[in-house]
Amino acid sequence: MASHPYKKEDDLKYKENLKKKILKLKKEKHAVIIVHNYQRDEVQDVADISGDSLALSQAAVKADAKVIVFCGVDFMAESASILNPDKIVLLPVKEAGCPMADMVTVERLREKKKEYPGAAIVCYVNSSAAIKAESDICCTSSNAIQVVKSLKDYKEVIFIPDKNLGRYVQQYVPDKKIILWDGFCPTHIRVSKEEVLKTKEEHPEAEVLAHPECNPDVLGVSDHICSTGGMFSYVKLSKSKEFIIATESGMLYRLKKDNPDKKFYMSTDRLVCPTMKLTTLGWVAHSLEAMEHEVKIGGEIRDKAYKALERMLKVSGEKSGASLAGY
Ligand code: 13P
Ligand code: SF4
Repeated sequence: MASHPYKKEDDLKYKENLKKKILKLKKEKHAVIIVHNYQRDEVQDVADISGDSLALSQAAVKADAKVIVFCGVDFMAESASILNPDKIVLLPVKEAGCPMADMVTVERLREKKKEYPGAAIVCYVNSSAAIKAESDICCTSSNAIQVVKSLKDYKEVIFIPDKNLGRYVQQYVPDKKIILWDGFCPTHIRVSKEEVLKTKEEHPEAEVLAHPECNPDVLGVSDHICSTGGMFSYVKLSKSKEFIIATESGMLYRLKKDNPDKKFYMSTDRLVCPTMKLTTLGWVAHSLEAMEHEVKIGGEIRDKAYKALERMLKVSGEKSGASLAGY
């Protein structure tokens, strides 16, 4: 059987048609499309707002729309629903989860709380609504140090679920004991210190920017550690012309677009988050057309999780690293 030859033009035309369809549906449904920095390039192109987890939570609160299409993973859509109980929040792909978020359960957390009854629970937003409801305050990679420092009355903090972020925060908060959870991001641990050093050897002028979810030895050889949103601001202000990026590969799209005079290198092509990449333009269009899949957090879990998120937003103030496109 003769196979149909693949034509790049056909693919581009298909994507352009889907983008037009999404734009039309978005207007009809009074929707806003919120996109995390790790999403596919073409999905980033249809974003009204793009950014890191903190910026997207802040943007969700302000979004003047009936419907929020959240292109990211489930905990992000859950947070948007918790913060916007009157809006319809859609996650285009139901299976888009975060394996790190699944590394902590309510039962195990309650056992840990019994072990450290005086400790505050700080929960990385990469966690389920039920876990947020069990926590005193949430944090993201861009405000974790600020959040832990804000807990003036506590000497001990149980930090869930990312041990790498928790360990990184500990260096900046020596007056508190951070009890780490054994969670991690299966994507960020894929880059090794040796690979980063090798890339640095090839590009000695380049600055190494790493996400705090990377392993400690990778962070140890990095010049700057920050959230995905923090990387955009850093690159914009830096005098350097070359950067080695130690985080998910989706970051390269906007970094290159926003900084055409600068060069970006990845130390490995394994830095791809499989669940972030599940969302395609086709799923975004389907999501708006069929109004699927609605993420709704209600009841006591919503009320308690809201408090943990609200406390975080208060500590973080109005700073937002969100990028608004035509919105
Ligand atoms: P940011 O908040 O830095 O965008 O990180 C979210 C995330 O899932 C990192 O893996
Ligand atoms: Fe979760 Fe890691 Fe993917 Fe972020 S990159 S969504 S932490 S698995």
